[in-house]
Parts: sequence; structure tokens; C-alpha cells
Amino acid sequence: MQDDIAQILVSAADIRRRVKEMGRDISRDYAGKELLVVGILKGAIIFLSDLVRELSIPLQLDFMAVSSYGDDTSTSGAVRILKDLEVSVEDKHLLIVEDIVDTGLTLKYLLENLRARQPLSIRTCTLLDKPERRQVEVKVDYCGFCIPDYFVVGYGLDYSQMYRHLPDICVLKPEVYEQRRKK
Ligand code: IMP
Repeated sequence: MQDDIAQILVSAADIRRRVKEMGRDISRDYAGKELLVVGILKGAIIFLSDLVRELSIPLQLDFMAVSSYGDDTSTSGAVRILKDLEVSVEDKHLLIVEDIVDTGLTLKYLLENLRARQPLSIRTCTLLDKPERRQVEVKVDYCGFCIPDYFVVGYGLDYSQMYRHLPDICVLKPEVYEQRRKK
């Protein structure tokens, strides 16, 4: 597994520090309000579970799962809901929590879909942002780290459902997915 990793881009210690700061910012901005945190499965689960434990405001947790059509390292932009929320968003302040914003297509779709359900407010939070790759404009309210255009795994992010358990954000060697494409 270590042989598949080219470099550590963000260490577990740096992630911990940044998640604490993000928790403080979000708790301050939502003081006196109740939040519905919407985690996007599966990539956001590890970030989300660390983040919510840094929040000092009352909150509910719910999840959505989406899949985007495309090849295994990029999206085509067509998004499909695999699992929807279980709670109603009416009278709720929503915070969408994503692992990474790449082209922006997934987050844009989620924002439009959830906005149409008329919550009190809606904001977005992502651990990672790859601004160079953006295809559509989308507002990121809370961002952990802006990163260059590398395909990364670990801390919840996968390649082909693998590597999610790695504690650091790691750059995968391109030959790992190039080899797979040839098969
Ligand atoms: P977007 O719709 O292009 O912004 O892509 C969002 C989704 O693509 C993320 O939620 C991830 O699941 C996946 N993704 C994009 N870049 C990476 C990456 O570098 N590593 C792992 N997954 C990624």
C-alpha cells in the first residue's frame, strides 16, 4: 500500500490543527442557531466525524450519497442521488460537508437540489479544494486546504474504494490508476 503513495500532501497533524480551527469558525458563525450537518458519503465521513466533535453548537447529522458518472478519477458532471436525507430541511440551517471540491459539479448540484427544499440557510464546507480544476462557479464557505491538481487519497478519500483509512492526505502514484485503466 505504501508503494502506491508518491508523497504525503497534508499530514494527519496538520489536518487535526485545521479541523479544530474550522470547528471554532463554524461554532462562532452559528452561535445561537441549530445546525443540520449534511455529510456526503462516503468521502466526507472521516472529516465529518472529526469536525462535528469540534462544534460547540446544537446540531443534527444526516447523510446523502451521490454518484457522478465519469471515469474513475474525474466526473462527467451528471449526478445521481443514491441516498437522500432522512430528515426534513424546513426550518433548518444546513451545512453541506464534502471531502473535496474538484470540478464543482457535485457541490453545485447538491446546492441546487437542497436549496429547492427551502431550508432557512445553506452553506458549504470542504476539507480540500482544487480551484485549478473548477468547471462551474460554486461558493465554498469553509475550506480546510487548497491543493494543487493532484489525485489524492486518504482521510476518507478513495481511489476505487481503497485507501480511505490512511491518516494523511496522500498523492497517489499516477501509475496506480494508469495501470488499472489498461486492464
Ligand atoms: P467534483 O464534482 O468534480 O467537484 O468532484 C467531487 C467528487 O469527486 C468528490 O466528492 C470526490 O469523491 C471525487 N474526487 C475529486 N477529486 C478527487 C481526488 O483527488 N481524490 C479522490 N476523490 C476525488
